[in-house]
Amino acid sequence: MGYRYIGSKDKLSDIIISEIKNINPNAEHVIDLMAGTGLFSLALKEAGFQVSALDVMTYSFHHLTVHLKLDKEPQFENINKIKGIEKYKDNELFSSSNYKTIQNYLNNLKPIQGYFYKEFSPDGSPQNTDKKRKYFTSANAEKIDAIRKAIKSLKAKKIISDIEHSLLLHDLIMATNDVANIAGTYGHYLSKFVKRAESPLQLYSSTFSSKGKLTDHNIYLGYAEEIAASLSADFCYIDPPYIKRQYAANYHILETIAREDEPEAIGLSGLRPWRDQYSNFCSKVKIRDSFDKILKNINCSDILISYSEDGLLTLEELIKFLSSYGKVIPKELEYKRFKSNDSKKGATLTEYLIHLRKY
Ligand SMILES: C[S@@+](CC[C@H](N)C(=O)[O-])C[C@H]1O[C@@H](n2cnc3c(N)ncnc32)[C@H](O)[C@@H]1O
Repeated sequence: MGYRYIGSKDKLSDIIISEIKNINPNAEHVIDLMAGTGLFSLALKEAGFQVSALDVMTYSFHHLTVHLKLDKEPQFENINKIKGIEKYKDNELFSSSNYKTIQNYLNNLKPIQGYFYKEFSPDGSPQNTDKKRKYFTSANAEKIDAIRKAIKSLKAKKIISDIEHSLLLHDLIMATNDVANIAGTYGHYLSKFVKRAESPLQLYSSTFSSKGKLTDHNIYLGYAEEIAASLSADFCYIDPPYIKRQYAANYHILETIAREDEPEAIGLSGLRPWRDQYSNFCSKVKIRDSFDKILKNINCSDILISYSEDGLLTLEELIKFLSSYGKVIPKELEYKRFKSNDSKKGATLTEYLIHLRKY
């Protein structure tokens, strides 16, 4: 399944990058202010830009680390310190890389009945409800528990570096997405296990891109409103949430993998306490205040904002609001919907690209 992320701009990367180049052909350094999966940041890097990328979610930090800081497999040079680890062999003759060896080690760990098993599997015993949750089969939840524990311990013992740690967490998040028993987000689990969820969880090697600009990228974890004042670049791309659904609630399980903790799992869905990552962009009342903090403080005169016809603000409202900061030029793009249960909504969606040149 890979990434399934509300609002991911993976398929629009080329169009947005050509728009950036049209607006400012001399731009070298681009900010990706709400970077999510990090795939747009990767496309910017591959197109030769220096990238400064930011998001409030921890999983995004790990994705960005892989996409912006790695152009080849890291060495994992200390893994021979792991007790009982065996060099992985692709075939009889040749040993494989340390990356493949550590993935093979993690894939074959003895399962553990830990936090994921207890809270998110049908054989568990959730702390706050009698209703067992079905996000993962019990076998996959036990595997996730074992892999999580091992990655955390390898980091604590300094056997893996920060970047290697991010890569393994990124790989575990991608593997978890492959077997999660969900319809699209982690807001709910499905009542019956779908086929995909029943296949055994498996870490696969990430691919690394050595195209474009390979150094000098920056990654930030936190609120754009708070970090904007310290950012300066030739161009800023902003892809905010446009609906009420909070990313922190919809992707709570990925956040728990990324943060390596065991938070209280609350309610039917087993949400982690997520208010510390609440986004004002999901509130019609607060969105303008947050935009104001960013637009006033960021040191960048060309700003491109993605928004959707399904968004909390209409295009007219956005244009009116943004016009007090500079000259506004909107564009409309047709886009395939992420998912819709609403029969009144068509299969395509109009996505806005709004250029603001600050006064
Ligand atoms: C539409 S998604 C971005 C998708 C991204 N362009 C991609 O291609 O994957 C919006 C992102 O904004 C992040 N976000 C929401 N409010 C934020 C804030 N105040 N500061 C930083 N990031 C925020 C969310 O965590 C989410 O990842």
